[in-house]
Amino acid sequence: MSEKPLSTQSAHSNGATKRAVNREQMNAWIEQLVTRRSVLAGATTLSLAGLAGLVLGACDGEGDVTTMPDGTTQPLMPEFNFEVVSLNMDDKVTLPPGHSAQVLYAYGDPFKSDLAEYSNMGTEPAWQWDYRAGDNHDGMRFFGLKEIADDDYELDPNASDLGILCVNHEKITQALMHDPEGRRSGDRNDVDEVRKEQRAHGVSCVVIQRDEATGQFTIVKDSKYNRRITAYTEMHLHGPAAGSDLLKTKYSQNGLAGRGTLYNCANGYTPWGTYLTCEENYDFYFRDDRTVEDGSKRDPEEIGYANYLAGIGVRFPDGRYGWATLAGHMDESDDEFSRFNITPMAGKSAVEDYRNEGNQFGYIVEIDPLDPQAAPRKRTALGRFSHEGAWPAEVGDGKPVVFYMGDDDQLQFIYKFVSAKAYAANNPGSSPLDIGDTYMDDGTLYVARFDADPMTGRQTGVWIPLRPDNPDLKAASEDMQSPFYGLFGGLASILVHTRAAAFVVGATPMDRPEWGAVNPRNGEVYFTLTNNSDRRGFDDADLDARTDGDQGTRDEVTEFLANREFGEVPSNPRGPNSHGHIIRFRENDNDPTSTGFVWDIFVFGSDAGGPTNFSALTAGNEFTDCDGLWFDSAGLLWIQTDDDISQPDGNHNQMLAATPGAVGDGGLDAGNVDESLRRFLVGPIGCEITGIDMTPDRRSMFVNIQHPDERSSGGHWPADNRDATRAAAAGRARSATIVITRDDGGPLGTA
Ligand code: FEO
Ligand code: CA
Ligand code: CA
Ligand code: CA
Repeated sequence: MSEKPLSTQSAHSNGATKRAVNREQMNAWIEQLVTRRSVLAGATTLSLAGLAGLVLGACDGEGDVTTMPDGTTQPLMPEFNFEVVSLNMDDKVTLPPGHSAQVLYAYGDPFKSDLAEYSNMGTEPAWQWDYRAGDNHDGMRFFGLKEIADDDYELDPNASDLGILCVNHEKITQALMHDPEGRRSGDRNDVDEVRKEQRAHGVSCVVIQRDEATGQFTIVKDSKYNRRITAYTEMHLHGPAAGSDLLKTKYSQNGLAGRGTLYNCANGYTPWGTYLTCEENYDFYFRDDRTVEDGSKRDPEEIGYANYLAGIGVRFPDGRYGWATLAGHMDESDDEFSRFNITPMAGKSAVEDYRNEGNQFGYIVEIDPLDPQAAPRKRTALGRFSHEGAWPAEVGDGKPVVFYMGDDDQLQFIYKFVSAKAYAANNPGSSPLDIGDTYMDDGTLYVARFDADPMTGRQTGVWIPLRPDNPDLKAASEDMQSPFYGLFGGLASILVHTRAAAFVVGATPMDRPEWGAVNPRNGEVYFTLTNNSDRRGFDDADLDARTDGDQGTRDEVTEFLANREFGEVPSNPRGPNSHGHIIRFRENDNDPTSTGFVWDIFVFGSDAGGPTNFSALTAGNEFTDCDGLWFDSAGLLWIQTDDDISQPDGNHNQMLAATPGAVGDGGLDAGNVDESLRRFLVGPIGCEITGIDMTPDRRSMFVNIQHPDERSSGGHWPADNRDATRAAAAGRARSATIVITRDDGGPLGTA
């Protein structure tokens, strides 16, 4: 078996790049897979490359269990209880017959009764967004509640009629949030407009209650638990990097506090009842005048490779929304705009400017939904990168707590964190966030390497620890010729520069890891890999002649740093990867703390008629750009998509349900694909479908419709209409949480 994944077996020599694996080697490896699989499972109709991700195995599909390759059995999935939804381009939410959906919480909706309903004209002042829904709803979780006194609650994991819904507001749709007749989006002279944009980011925690007669949820206005977390909210930094020089700013001279959370994409939760929000593209927000003085392409050498890799560099010359343009404005208070300019100021030290403000973002952030006064805690032990989300393995008394995480950028990685301390159901902390200190501030961050043996086709993986005693990190850090010289001497610096560390230790660059999900039936872990235009096919005539996308500059740097090629590899076998796929793995001994695993690919996204439809998708389940991913308590896997222009035939984004089987069964059952993957929902114009949860009784499903009409293509959903399945005739589109129910009041997805 090879020590390194196929993608890392070669290095630069004399500045010339060699391919990691040539086409002949790849073909030989795929041929072996096909031959073996043909014998075992009779699969002969798929193209060769289509089987590149499949591990050998057999699935009998008979009776009420599936026999796994190791002889163990897994229960078969229950059947879907809904009819397939056809793709469409309607400006509404489409559901199977017998299902309904209401709009529960749309952008601008107030949770205080003394605020008027949202005008949907953008005329309300910024301060009101401390009490109104933020924009671009993303990951979310329902926390069931038991009322112990009037507006006084405790968590009840079995409660379905009352709960706190925590919702991420990932970003903003600038064109739809300001007064179109007055101030204009993009006008950076208006202080209140910028403040509104900052306050429309973050998280909502709102109490919601279900009416038993109608089955409809409403917001419980004025509850003391209702809360907005925004770009202004006080944050506490925790874990090994907290207090380090790298996190000190003019505002936080001890490096222990910060302000706000940004680009809160997917989410997570903990076994002790807290919500995790995750900071994804935080490098969108900062301005760095060092490298963009004339607006020209940034020079990675000037900015420093290591910093560039770590995402401290800016992604947009002035920051995506130009917030730092208002630095020094006469109405600015507490450097609310200046802090987004990370240029070191002449004659100043790091505690006199905001050069380190970028280092305060890119973390997993823990929120106690039952303590609205508590500052959220940024957990630096879980690394700093474009955190999509954090998904816990099933927790066991006396076992460490484990979280799986993805870094959503092209050619970035999959990680896990293993706590140093074993979990005790009777936790030692005095509050949920203090319990979080116990399990999330001390532990080991690992990054994944996906291997495949070219001789046997066996697909294994290794978790590589990112610690100062890692010999690769030590060597890079002590080598004065290395761009990483001095970077990995201590854990704080390793964590702040997680991406650089992951590259150095030879982790496998993936096709944009988005959501993860842990199968409640068998503990296996799934990740969506949404797409990757920088994954190059082995047939590319000139590897260097590709066109760079908007992230291309970064990828040139990462490629240089890693001294390696990013061609097709078994775990990411399509280059470019236009449609995405879902990879999954089972930890050795089914132990989440294992340092090894086996993996396969569950499904490849594609048009049904596409040339790389390796999973034999049909009209009822063709999809591309998988992103959201979630297991319900019955073991159905829900898949959400993000890219409406590339959904088959330009249709809108969608959500599907799958019956997943297990690693080793060959992935989606290509001979029976419609029974194992089925479309459940299609969204309105211009939206992304993301964020999902259900009440414990499975009778109400929460789904987020993010940025409808983002491209200004004539969408109106839902405007002021509360029936999510009806198109609105006029009005501006708004992101919203919807609640889906069955008209017969039964459980969703499967009986
Ligand atoms: Fe915010 Fe990776 O999607
Ligand atoms: Ca996402
Ligand atoms: Ca996405
Ligand atoms: Ca998105």
